[in-house]
Amino acid sequence: MRKTQLLAVSLLGACTNAFQLPFHLPFFTDSPQTPLLPAEPPSNRIAIIGAGAGGASAAFWIAKAKERYGLDVEVDVFERNGYIGGRSTVVYPYNNTELDPVELGASIFVKVNKNLWRATDEFGLERIDFGDDDSGMAIWDGSEILLETSSGSFYSGWWNTLKIIWRYGFKSPQRTMALVKSMTEQIGLLYSERAPRFDNITALAETLHWLPYVARTAAEYFDTEGIDRRWTREMVDAATRVNYGQNVDAIHALEGMCSLAATGASSVKGGNFQIFEEFLKRSNASVYLNTAVLSLTYDEATGTWLLSTFGSQDIRKYRGVILAAPIHSSAIAFSPESLVEMPSPQPYVHLHVTLLSTPSSSPNPVYFGLGETTAPTQILTSFDAVRKGTGTGPEFNSLTYHGKLKTTDGRAWEGPRGEEYVIKLFSGEKMTDEWLETMFGSVGWVFRKEWDAYPVLPPTTSFPPIKIARGLYYVNAFEPFISTMETETVAARNVVDLLLQDEFNAAVCPPGVMDDDLTGSETFVLGWDC
Ligand SMILES: Cc1cc2nc3c(=O)[nH]c(=O)nc-3n(C[C@H](O)[C@H](O)[C@H](O)COP(=O)(O)OP(=O)(O)OC[C@H]3O[C@@H](n4cnc5c(N)ncnc54)[C@H](O)[C@@H]3O)c2cc1C
Ligand SMILES: *[C@@H]1O[C@H](CO)[C@@H](O)[C@H](O)[C@H]1NC(C)=O
Ligand SMILES: *[C@@H]1O[C@H](CO)[C@@H](O)[C@H](O)[C@H]1NC(C)=O
Ligand SMILES: *[C@@H]1O[C@H](CO)[C@@H](O)[C@H](O)[C@H]1NC(C)=O
Repeated sequence: MRKTQLLAVSLLGACTNAFQLPFHLPFFTDSPQTPLLPAEPPSNRIAIIGAGAGGASAAFWIAKAKERYGLDVEVDVFERNGYIGGRSTVVYPYNNTELDPVELGASIFVKVNKNLWRATDEFGLERIDFGDDDSGMAIWDGSEILLETSSGSFYSGWWNTLKIIWRYGFKSPQRTMALVKSMTEQIGLLYSERAPRFDNITALAETLHWLPYVARTAAEYFDTEGIDRRWTREMVDAATRVNYGQNVDAIHALEGMCSLAATGASSVKGGNFQIFEEFLKRSNASVYLNTAVLSLTYDEATGTWLLSTFGSQDIRKYRGVILAAPIHSSAIAFSPESLVEMPSPQPYVHLHVTLLSTPSSSPNPVYFGLGETTAPTQILTSFDAVRKGTGTGPEFNSLTYHGKLKTTDGRAWEGPRGEEYVIKLFSGEKMTDEWLETMFGSVGWVFRKEWDAYPVLPPTTSFPPIKIARGLYYVNAFEPFISTMETETVAARNVVDLLLQDEFNAAVCPPGVMDDDLTGSETFVLGWDC
């Protein structure tokens, strides 16, 4: 229901004027009659473009700074879509809002993701384990199943199951996990009171000692670390393919290691997007849904940015602008162009997500050459057959069962076909109805979505600029470094800090307001506890 309501709203938004959506509950049902923005907003305003993880958290960080400084700034958030969350959003099986929704984009976060973890705690959102389907995992290379475990999933202790040790030995999985652990420990710096304020991601990589990771592919990096090549090209490949739609010998090692840091994966019950709704609610920002920003023009005389939106004559003035969307697909015209340090073109992985339900409790074993046995319910893939020249590769990136359809209050649900399982398929191409029927027999609900999901992430030591002009900051510069919900909130905090410093002589955490009891403690999180 939510989905179509929003569709109706977005059509409306596209052909009428933008409208304000104050945060009354229920969240999305405000009528579009609400008055427009004042035509001449004072120049203490900040515009945020995009209401995904980056934009929503940026508004929240500004609100935190306001609380601490008594800053006089007003924030407007512009969002092209009719919903909050961007690449973090859900759909309802059979379009039935009585059923548990399914994540259509970003699904998981982990405990070291301190902002999201803290947000769910503070906002009273329920975290649920993502890897609840524990009935085994396989790696498929398009020709054969390379590995099959009868228990453990990718999200729960998969690397020390016996099957894995038997195929790859003990050392390589352990060594890999130790490298991942030391990388995730380094990330702690970004949440500490010593966190650097950065406008140069290469310099940040240097500070974190991560240049060796971004400068090489994950395969090259693990090879030089003496890790078993087969392990890397099968198991680690499976992880980079399910998480980033890219092969282990193409993606840089930092993102490769992030792909492996999925143990203990959690999601928010009812949808991760609720974190971003809460960020915005608590920020008091004015949020304009169905409102695409069309142009940004710098007015030298007043030192402000003039912002125009689709379908409106209004020009709004801003002292600072935070771009929290991939710049090239944002379709914003910047002028004068000479002013803006345009980031180089950034390709994104075009991903097909297919969600479906079926009474079939496992995929078709015959497809996988497993004869009459039961196929595992989590099938990851490796590109190694193509590398070795023995096959043409898998038709999909990952196929994962996500339990049975349930009502939002946890009761079992039965449709005309009886109980049904929810399945998520990621692929580079469209999965046809015929293919789904071959794989699952009877198919109930099907929902397809194509995303520009994450940047194509080859090794590099050069990253987009964060400050792209005076007063104009770019959150998604961080994505070619790491692309996750959490890191977008970290990038947003940093961008807010830069903007407040440059334009308002302020900061997210002003000097002297660090909470002494908490600094240096395990629980201290920069931005929350200062
Ligand atoms: C299928 C899939 C699975 C993923 N899995 C995970 C995962 O498990 N865990 C994880 O952490 N991350 C995951 N990611 C990555 C994660 O979704 C992103 O890194 C993160 O959500 C990006 O947040 P963002 O706010 O920077 O961008 P977005 O979420 O893309 O938000 C940008 C917003 O800006 C809006 N916008 C664009 N142009 C304009 C304009 N001109 N005017 C107004 N608004 C505009 C867009 O409509 C959009 O809502 C996944 C992504 C996909 C697609
Ligand atoms: C979803 O449900 C709504 C409300 O019940 C309905 O109006 C809409 O047509 C449905 N959409 C789809 C895609 O079935
Ligand atoms: C938001 O608005 C409410 C009500 O006007 C106010 O009590 C609160 O302090 C505001 N919060 C911020 C962060 O501005
Ligand atoms: C960013 O930092 C790197 C490494 O310190 C440096 O080589 C580069 O020149 C810097 N880039 C800019 C634009 O300052």
